[in-house]
Amino acid sequence: MSFDDAPKPPMTADELRLLSELIYDHCGILVREDLRFLLERRLWARMRALDLPDFLTYYRYLRFDPGRRAELEAAVEALTTNETYFFREPHQLKAFREELLPLRVNERARVRRLRLWSAGCSTGEEAYTLAMLVLESGLFGGWEIEVFGSDISRKVLAAARKGVYSRNALRETPPQMVERYFTADAGRWAVKDEARSLVSFGHLNLIDEHMVAMLARFDVVFCRNVMIYLDLPARRRVLKSFHGRLWPGGYLLLGHSESLIHVTADYELVHLKNDLVYRKPLLAI
Ligand SMILES: C[S@@+](CC[C@H](N)C(=O)[O-])C[C@H]1O[C@@H](n2cnc3c(N)ncnc32)[C@H](O)[C@@H]1O
Repeated sequence: MSFDDAPKPPMTADELRLLSELIYDHCGILVREDLRFLLERRLWARMRALDLPDFLTYYRYLRFDPGRRAELEAAVEALTTNETYFFREPHQLKAFREELLPLRVNERARVRRLRLWSAGCSTGEEAYTLAMLVLESGLFGGWEIEVFGSDISRKVLAAARKGVYSRNALRETPPQMVERYFTADAGRWAVKDEARSLVSFGHLNLIDEHMVAMLARFDVVFCRNVMIYLDLPARRRVLKSFHGRLWPGGYLLLGHSESLIHVTADYELVHLKNDLVYRKPLLAI
């Protein structure tokens, strides 16, 4: 029987614990019991790629092999959920465009610089959406605009940098935005330069507070549908890092099912007409 035909070895409770702890320490993602099946199946694919016979050997590889860093990234990549699309959560984007951007124009009129961060950007749709909304607002002529997208997965970042998408990624995109910001070619849609030129991407593990602390400050941080995969201590670490990277008075926008209740009191809740958002208090450092 070849290795390819070999049946998947069972993962013991000890192996599950060791692998989960390693993954958690690296990126804050909590592999709960209900994810055990996914973990087994996806890591089995990695073990086959490396020709390793069982999960304990794979764990040892992740701990001690010279190639462990790259493999840990591959393991995390195999476990992350990268689902995203353009113009996701439209009511929040409406609040961003119609309420937050005008506020920021006034608040930053002296420096004329706007920096946005899509933290956990996956294949880039969110970051490009923000760039398009800034352009659409027509408020920032002559300003320095930067949209930074970051993710722990190098694979999704490579796709983000290409900026070419299937119809599925544009399923919520208003037709006039498709018309204005994309070029269609053979069933694929490429983001045009006008929006592309505002966006850059970088590899970043949000749990790594030292790396996050090296970023320049932002006006608005979007971190949507990322912290749902992290446990409470990991969320707190990430939120503390965001706090450090926001300008006083800067905004934090989370996914619609995510809230800071019982998580941190570092942010104030702002009631906009179209949504509730979080803000770093003006007097915070
Ligand atoms: C479901 S996608 C969300 C994409 C986009 N923000 C949205 O809402 O459509 C979650 C992304 O978070 C990334 N992610 C998970 N844990 C991370 C971490 N510790 N550091 C950086 N990115 C992480 C995953 O790789 C994945 O691409």
